[in-house]
Amino acid sequence: MSTHALWHPFADMGAVDGARFVITRGDGPWVFDDAGRRYLDGTAALWYANLGHGREEIREAVERQMRELDAYSIFGDFANEPAIELADRLAGLAAGPGAKVFFGSGGGDAIDTAAKIARRHFAETGQPQRVHLISRGHGYHGTHGVGTSIGGIPPNLEGFGPLLPDTSTVPHDDAQALEDEIQRVGPDRVAAFFCEPVIGAGGVHLPPDGYIEAVAEICRRHGVLFVADCVICAFGRLGTWLGIDRWDVAPDMVTIAKGVTSGTLPLGAVIVAEAVAAPFFPGAPGAPVLRHGPTYAGHPACCAAAHAALDLYEREDVIARGRLLERPLADALAPLADHPLVAEVRSGLGFLAAVELVDPARVGALQMAVRAEGVLVRPLGRGVAVSPPLVCGQEEIDLLAGALGAGLEALAAAAV
Ligand SMILES: Cc1ncc(COP(=O)(O)O)c(C=O)c1O
Repeated sequence: MSTHALWHPFADMGAVDGARFVITRGDGPWVFDDAGRRYLDGTAALWYANLGHGREEIREAVERQMRELDAYSIFGDFANEPAIELADRLAGLAAGPGAKVFFGSGGGDAIDTAAKIARRHFAETGQPQRVHLISRGHGYHGTHGVGTSIGGIPPNLEGFGPLLPDTSTVPHDDAQALEDEIQRVGPDRVAAFFCEPVIGAGGVHLPPDGYIEAVAEICRRHGVLFVADCVICAFGRLGTWLGIDRWDVAPDMVTIAKGVTSGTLPLGAVIVAEAVAAPFFPGAPGAPVLRHGPTYAGHPACCAAAHAALDLYEREDVIARGRLLERPLADALAPLADHPLVAEVRSGLGFLAAVELVDPARVGALQMAVRAEGVLVRPLGRGVAVSPPLVCGQEEIDLLAGALGAGLEALAAAAV
């Protein structure tokens, strides 16, 4: 047993124990390990450092806020200025007017919040039987209660005993499968459909043409709430503010986290369309109370970090870069598809991609081989993913593609 107590998420502690990869410093798209070695952060940490590392403006904003008010909750009638203003700013990104914003600490609790708001909305509007939640195969919605239960990556559901009932998963690329599942469950029993516009952690699966519009329309037709899980896709990853706004659809709720602070401090939120929030905002005392909310909802220091990050996205025109960079990334990675160890390269919509291997048992080895080339990539079930900071350019894209190619060559050489 190691002398250290740290238990890493999603880790084989038998392998990690004693062999930790300790990151000590970050600067733009680069990070450094405890031996001083520099790496390209090819994954923006865990899909969140969209602005790159070490942004002074964010640090200064948090410092200023903490001098003034370091922490205070927003339960009941309590509020703080950064939270009030951030909610208005995020509501302004929604498809329609009058949206409300419910804060939390990350993506997973945003998912639980969205599910509970969906069910409470129907409980308050005379349809309490609408409790069923539908999600997509390969989808990832975090590790909280609801997110685990609606997750589309089977190993993430195993060994935890019974999960939430009244949930089901449909194939990720087939809108008709959603229609069929709603009919099977009963259209008046389904509360919400959870949909990542581009599936991230489940393997970077791009939606087929017309899929997002089709599922949004199916939800609308059946009165099912369409929840766009944009925890990865927002804040420029797809070249737009929320990710789902790349399509001409009007989601009922949008979950966000990660890039909202460029990952610098934990913050998540659900942006709730006016009609969904309406039962809780009647304009007079006596409204139904949503008895829900994590301690750190609306934490002023986290909200200050988000304001500073949003300022940077605006000032440096970072949001559009996700779209500008998608073709250069796809072009740079395309030749890897011809490598005998590669099953498929998925890219072309947003600044993210996956390289899937023929033999998934070799994913860890590829990650390490690419790391030896000075580039960090993320292992997924059957391949590795990349989602670099949006401040990268052609030079970093070439470095990334070159390191992946060299890593594959190293793996091929090791096999003979
Ligand atoms: C699409 C999506 N939803 C939800 C989550 C969960 O977010 P968190 O890890 O902040 O709880 C993630 C995390 O990667 C995610 O990618």
